[in-house]
Amino acid sequence: MSFDAVGALVPTQRSGADAPVVSLRGVAARVGGRTLWSGVDLTVGAGEFVAVLGPNGAGKSTLVKMVLGMVPPAAGEVRVLGGVPGRTGDRVGYLPQRRSFDASLRIRGVDIVRLGLDGNRWGVPLPLPARFSARRREQDERVAEAIELVGATSYGHRPIGACSGGEQQRLLIAQALVRGPKLLLLDEPLDSLDLSHQGAVAALVGRICRERGTSVVMVAHDVNPILPWLDRVVYIAGGGVAAGRPEAVITTQTLTRLYGAPVEVLRATDGRLVVVGSPEPPAVHSDRHAS
Ligand SMILES: Nc1ncnc2c1ncn2[C@@H]1O[C@H](COP(=O)(O)OP(=O)(O)O)[C@@H](O)[C@H]1O
Ligand SMILES: [Mg+2]
Repeated sequence: MSFDAVGALVPTQRSGADAPVVSLRGVAARVGGRTLWSGVDLTVGAGEFVAVLGPNGAGKSTLVKMVLGMVPPAAGEVRVLGGVPGRTGDRVGYLPQRRSFDASLRIRGVDIVRLGLDGNRWGVPLPLPARFSARRREQDERVAEAIELVGATSYGHRPIGACSGGEQQRLLIAQALVRGPKLLLLDEPLDSLDLSHQGAVAALVGRICRERGTSVVMVAHDVNPILPWLDRVVYIAGGGVAAGRPEAVITTQTLTRLYGAPVEVLRATDGRLVVVGSPEPPAVHSDRHAS
């Protein structure tokens, strides 16, 4: 059975004419009595790949949680898939900012992916009674197809603790994809991966976006691995946000204005963007995440 037959992962047209998948109008984020950012207007269109960039603590994860309905806006209006955040059911897939799995964890990759069908209820699924076997079979097929989509078939039955960081991350992306979402929210999915795995996972997400028309919002520490796939970036710093095409936002002029401090954007001979001079260089790959 294909995904189409079970109503999941149906490819959609990439169309800029569609209503925005996410829209923020005059939005402010306030947590723990502190305003992180304010006056933010931005939209994510159908099938767009958007990166959320900025230094640690700028409020990137808070933006993602607001789209999920976990953090209410302190001002303004947030709309997601034409409705209120948090009431989008299985049309939004979410990969939270990374925790690592203990090497001794026995739960298998397929079980991790299946949890995405159960609404992230933690626990090993119990065998269903015979009358549910058709549903169980359909679920098995969805899980297997999501695992195949991320290229994890060969290690999906291994204990997750025995998988490498890159393999674990692919399985977690499969979990976020298993219900066939229209919008995929990935919070630093490249964190903890080495450079070649960053490129491979970025390409995987880019392909899902382009081939299936899934809108992607990805929080990233380093923009370079995802640069070839990006439609737009949302750069959060200094309590404000700059959004637009990468070449318009990641510039000396725009980032200096946003940070309120001198920042210089350099382009290396290999095409990589390097941001220097800010409080924390946000687009430079650092050893912080080396695995
Ligand atoms: N629920 C909360 N209560 C209080 N402070 C919070 C809460 N959530 C986040 N923060 C603080 O808000 C700031 C931004 O957090 P976050 O959105 O996680 O930033 P980023 O993802 O850009 O690193 C941080 O200083 C964090 O400690
Ligand atoms: Mg974060």
